[in-house]
Amino acid sequence: MPPLTCSGLTTCSIAAVIVQMVGVSLFMLGFFPVKPTLSGVSGPESFRPPDHEVYNLTTPLPPPTHLKSLYQELSEIPPSFDRLILMVIDGLPAEFVLGKDGQPPSKALTDAMPYTQSLLKNGMAIGYHAKAAPPTVTMPRLKAMVSGAIGGFLDVAFNFNTQALLDDNLLGQFFSIGWKMVMLGDETWLKLFPGLFTRHDGVSSFYVKDTVQVDQNVSRHLGYELNRDDWDLLILHYLGLDHVGHIGGRNSVLMTPKLMEMDEVVKMIHLNTIVPQDDIKRQTLLVGAILISSLLFGLSFVFTPQTCAYVVVSDHGMTDNGNHGGSSYEETDSLVLFIGPTKYASDYASATHNTAYQVDIAPTLALLFGVPIPKNNVGVLIAEIFTSLTEDKNQIKKPNVIVVFIVQNCLGPNFTTTTISNDQQLRALELNSWQLLRLLEAQLPGLSCRSFNSDGFSDDQGLGISKCSGSMDEMFCCLYRNAKLLHSSWKLKTVSR
Ligand SMILES: *[C@@H]1O[C@H](CO)[C@@H](O)[C@H](O)[C@H]1NC(C)=O
Ligand SMILES: *[C@@H]1O[C@H](CO)[C@@H](O)[C@H](O)[C@H]1NC(C)=O
Ligand SMILES: *[C@@H]1O[C@H](CO)[C@@H](O)[C@H](O)[C@H]1NC(C)=O
Repeated sequence: MPPLTCSGLTTCSIAAVIVQMVGVSLFMLGFFPVKPTLSGVSGPESFRPPDHEVYNLTTPLPPPTHLKSLYQELSEIPPSFDRLILMVIDGLPAEFVLGKDGQPPSKALTDAMPYTQSLLKNGMAIGYHAKAAPPTVTMPRLKAMVSGAIGGFLDVAFNFNTQALLDDNLLGQFFSIGWKMVMLGDETWLKLFPGLFTRHDGVSSFYVKDTVQVDQNVSRHLGYELNRDDWDLLILHYLGLDHVGHIGGRNSVLMTPKLMEMDEVVKMIHLNTIVPQDDIKRQTLLVGAILISSLLFGLSFVFTPQTCAYVVVSDHGMTDNGNHGGSSYEETDSLVLFIGPTKYASDYASATHNTAYQVDIAPTLALLFGVPIPKNNVGVLIAEIFTSLTEDKNQIKKPNVIVVFIVQNCLGPNFTTTTISNDQQLRALELNSWQLLRLLEAQLPGLSCRSFNSDGFSDDQGLGISKCSGSMDEMFCCLYRNAKLLHSSWKLKTVSR
């Protein structure tokens, strides 16, 4: 073997360094996949089919109040709610509230949350096991909830050094239609959305040993905020339960009192917003009107006395030891609970056995409140929320005039009726599908559903529905086209009826 010369050694070292760098970059690319996101925000164009880009993206958006009515007009779905309370219980596994594998939660757990359980039993709330994507740590989960997009693992690195969320998201959309927002709780929200909140009280998530003050600092403003009508979105983010987990795990002695505290908050908000206590007389009349209408006219009649939507979510679950971050069932089993003015579910099982994805929150809330779905959303509308607002298909289509008369005379003109018809449900799904198609087309440049020609064989009804086969792309475009055809034929039929 020839002796190693100086230049030979240098060459070897350089080669080794290069090989190492290549290795590291391969690892980084594989482990931290950089997710390409679409820049910009969804605007009025999102209410048009993707193949009709009529809006010039460079034209500035109208001022908030105009934009709000423009969206309402374009979306063709009258908003069911005016205001939203989003309560985040950090680290609460959905299992604690909804049970697991068709079994209700243990007696200790149901006893700890009696009010929430009674809402579920009466069908006044509907819960979902909402699968969260890893990493199951707070910041990326909040981002997923408000943008409907799934971040990469790189977000973990940013979790402690949070920066403003620049991607299209619900809060930005709400802000653009002039919503006033209030945030109480985890200051991560303030870092993600600097300057967006009219009032806020951020608590630091740094002192994990503190399980009392973190939540007291949120609840102390609750009475004040619930009595004010100057906000459209109230975010409450309770960190205590997560801290209890970090200290003593799922079975910590502090867990039951913490669950009870959260249940009290749910009760307070529900009684104050959905069922105003100082309005007992009105409530009685309201119940009377519903009873009369259902007895006399056999209607399942839906109206919302106070148009406040109340959604309880958790950002992630926890393992038995109270840890989180990974992708086990215990960590990804997060909660979404819609607590309504309307009856959402017919029985306990249908209120608790539902599954969804955490990203589905974003499109569902966007469609409920009449703002465009964020651009990078991969979530799908939770259709039951819309269905429960739908009057019974077999009943009379229009709210009965006499009922409206009774309601308005007993309860004042401000009690308006809200009904979401099948058309609007279908419309909501259509808007969701357009947004997803736009995203797919941007991510897969080869996908060309627009140029898809209609030479498929026609079925009996001559709709032009074709059998789908071929590559994944072709299948997808074919299915999309079929859905589009069915949708328009359904619309034609209902119009001509
Ligand atoms: C969009 O509007 C800007 C200014 O209003 C104009 O310069 C541009 O040509 C328009 N683009 C299209 C595609 O119409
Ligand atoms: C709660 O509020 C008090 C008084 O404003 C403050 O001193 C304390 O640091 C807050 N606690 C947390 C956990 O943010
Ligand atoms: C009805 O709503 C209007 C505007 O929101 C308000 O000014 C009025 O006081 C309300 N009336 C009643 C009876 O609550």
